[in-house]
Amino acid sequence: MDRILVEGGSSLSGEIPISGAKNACLALMPAALLTREPLTLTNAPFLSDIITMRELLASLGCEVAGLQNNRVITIVANKITNHVAEYDIVRKMRASILVLGPLLARERRAIVSLPGGCAIGARPVDIHLRALESMGAKLELKEGYIFAEARTGLSAIDYTFPIVSVGATENIIMAASLANGVSVLRNCALEPEIQDLCNCLIGMGAKIQGGGTSTLIIEGVSELRGHTHSVIVDRIELGTYMLAPAISGGEVLLSGGKIELVESFSNTLVETGARVTVSDKGITVTGSINGINPVNISTEPYPGFPTDLQAQMMALLTLSNGISTLAENIFENRFMHAPELNRMGANIIVEGGNAKVIGVKSLKGAPVMATDLRASISLILAALAAKGQTVISRVYHLDRGYENVTAKLSACGAKIKRLSS
Ligand code: EPZ
Repeated sequence: MDRILVEGGSSLSGEIPISGAKNACLALMPAALLTREPLTLTNAPFLSDIITMRELLASLGCEVAGLQNNRVITIVANKITNHVAEYDIVRKMRASILVLGPLLARERRAIVSLPGGCAIGARPVDIHLRALESMGAKLELKEGYIFAEARTGLSAIDYTFPIVSVGATENIIMAASLANGVSVLRNCALEPEIQDLCNCLIGMGAKIQGGGTSTLIIEGVSELRGHTHSVIVDRIELGTYMLAPAISGGEVLLSGGKIELVESFSNTLVETGARVTVSDKGITVTGSINGINPVNISTEPYPGFPTDLQAQMMALLTLSNGISTLAENIFENRFMHAPELNRMGANIIVEGGNAKVIGVKSLKGAPVMATDLRASISLILAALAAKGQTVISRVYHLDRGYENVTAKLSACGAKIKRLSS
């Protein structure tokens, strides 16, 4: 297994281009199942999760072309020859559950493996299933699979999500786009990736009102057409790299970064003492020269502080000149980066869903292990500032959500390289 080696202590300066959003693309790709015509996605990120989704759609009979060279994917679901999303693929990437709604809406049947949990939590899909049942789907859970059918098609619903769920919102928006009647979906998640999905679906001929609000009105249509859509910029990658000059010192332009996608996070970053300036090129972050201020964070659904940036912010706060607290309210086990950061000399105390970070003067390089996608990048951020060498193992976690990390960071002066096994 590959590892990443970082020689800490260099301050950064230069430019990091921000890629297309993994979590937008993972919802946009299954939308291709809603039409027989080609759906082309530009600005798609070249990541292992995207390759897994491509593999899943191909296994259902879709023709999928592109990605590696020019970040363009074209998916044609003219003929769906297989209605089973196999466990072997689904277990690799939970977002596979997002084929359930479109398959049911288009084909009136689907067999999708339950995604199972992952390192950060149980990750149930009960809300997806309950909403689809409200649309008339008959669901049976058997041998780890969801057997679903809707013989007379899905019916529109007036439905309030019991909790804010990004994936459930996405699945039901896609299902409702082809359902019979007008659906009203309330308490929808507000993540920008959902608005991006709505914009793409509207381009395919879907009738969706209220995009960007928590109440969506969707008038089902008989079929959707092909479309070309540019994937929005990745706000989590953006926030991650905004932290790089904050933790290592220096100044970096995050080109293509849009401040409206990271308002809450950016305000917190400024509270720590970093300087954030916006231009038409993107966002420039300058590390504080007067030390890092402690802050208190509570992760919330968008537009609150994103859970996907909690681990990365924690890395910065390990070097603050005070005590910070982080409350992780979205997932039940998302502090696995803490013991690894403590191996580097951090002083983090985790109690249930809360972490207390007592700032230390410096971190020391050490061998550490990535445990999940966002934990892996938080270790790299810490390593940029640590004294000496850090080797991060299990970097396959990183490849799921970050494109060309070593190239992007070394272009700004970081001493970082990948050690292939
Ligand atoms: C999406 O996951 C993202 N993944 C996650 O990013 C992100 O952390 C999460 O939204 C929250 O913003 C993708 O978009 C592919 P949820 P999702 O449904 O849709 C509970 C990353 O690092 N829940 O909004 O799975 C759930 O357990 C990943 O890029 C149920 O109880 O998240 C969680 O506690 C990690 N039942 C909460 O809701 C359900 O049926 C929010 O989950 C669904 C969810």
